[in-house]
Amino acid sequence: MTDTIPQLNSYDPSALDQAFATLSEEVRQQSGSLKTSEEQEAFRLHWLGRKQGRLKLISEAWLKSAPAEARKPLGMQFNQLKQQIEQALEALAATKSSATVQGIDISLPGSARRPGIPHPLLSTMHEVVRVFHQLGYSTNLGPQVESDFYNFEALNFPPNHPARDTQDTLQIAGQQVRPSRDRLLMRTHTSPVQIRTMIAQTPPVRIVIPGKVHRNDAADATHSPIFHQIEGLCVDTNITFSDLKGTLDHAMKALFGSAVKTRFFPSFFPFTEPSADVQISCIFCGGSGCRKCKHSGWIELLGCGMVDPAVFAAVTAERRKIDPADDAYNPARISGFAFGMGVERIAMMLHGVSDIGHFYSGDMRFLEQFA
Ligand code: PHE
Repeated sequence: MTDTIPQLNSYDPSALDQAFATLSEEVRQQSGSLKTSEEQEAFRLHWLGRKQGRLKLISEAWLKSAPAEARKPLGMQFNQLKQQIEQALEALAATKSSATVQGIDISLPGSARRPGIPHPLLSTMHEVVRVFHQLGYSTNLGPQVESDFYNFEALNFPPNHPARDTQDTLQIAGQQVRPSRDRLLMRTHTSPVQIRTMIAQTPPVRIVIPGKVHRNDAADATHSPIFHQIEGLCVDTNITFSDLKGTLDHAMKALFGSAVKTRFFPSFFPFTEPSADVQISCIFCGGSGCRKCKHSGWIELLGCGMVDPAVFAAVTAERRKIDPADDAYNPARISGFAFGMGVERIAMMLHGVSDIGHFYSGDMRFLEQFA
């Protein structure tokens, strides 16, 4: 839009007519090409702006040197031009309000609603749980504040047993007055829910237990005092170590891709015998060795084993408090396996996250990447 003030050479009527015809044509052309409401507003300001508007500047310039008799026709011409501008603006506003439906202006930009998404740790838990649901498992949950009995004793960690040292426990304050089995703590693993499930339910049992666990660990790139595990428990007649191997091999392939291999190493957990650590072939290098797998080609992912008969004995003792004849977990007739895995570790592998702290930071720049 031009800003120069046109020269008016004479105030005789034909000169005025011509000058205003030029201005009117200028207005007509400009108002014909206004699309956005920003452009319309710029047009309005350009012509009608109270201080710097073109109409005001031109009328000031032309009126200043106008002879007395020319003032009236000049004023009338300015009024006409002003009307033309206002009408052009009104016409534009009218087309716009024809887009108004029942008081809602559908031509206005909408306010975007950003849908929420599951946190990456939750979606990882859902993914793992889904794999086991497809195998016929159901889901169980248990309390995060747990008693010593469920978290340790029934899982064959006797009081003062050194195996307890492997799980740096956050104790609830003021529990010393209670018998040791009733003392409360933050559960250090999801395994206590194995016990709760077996006390409540007769075999066959096939459950997965996702949940939050706590350990007195210093936070670093791979540790957090609060983290998540998924436990699994299968108890039935004739459950063998090959069932355990087949189940976990299938689950790892379902989670990480069918090319993934698994291998089992002897390990120790008080509540499983034999126990094993499971490694999967490195999903980053395919097993040839890289920084992520410390050049071994393998990544350790979970602990597992056959349920120790001592665990069945603890469960049976509890069940017999209700039914003295209970024999549902007699290891002569049933057997089972259990496994446990860290959710953060799996999520970090699936999404290439290098610092566990990102999951808890609440930083939208991190979380939005999972939308
Ligand atoms: N609860 C064990 C841990 O937290 C993992 C585990 C679960 C091992 C089930 C074997 C069977 O270290």
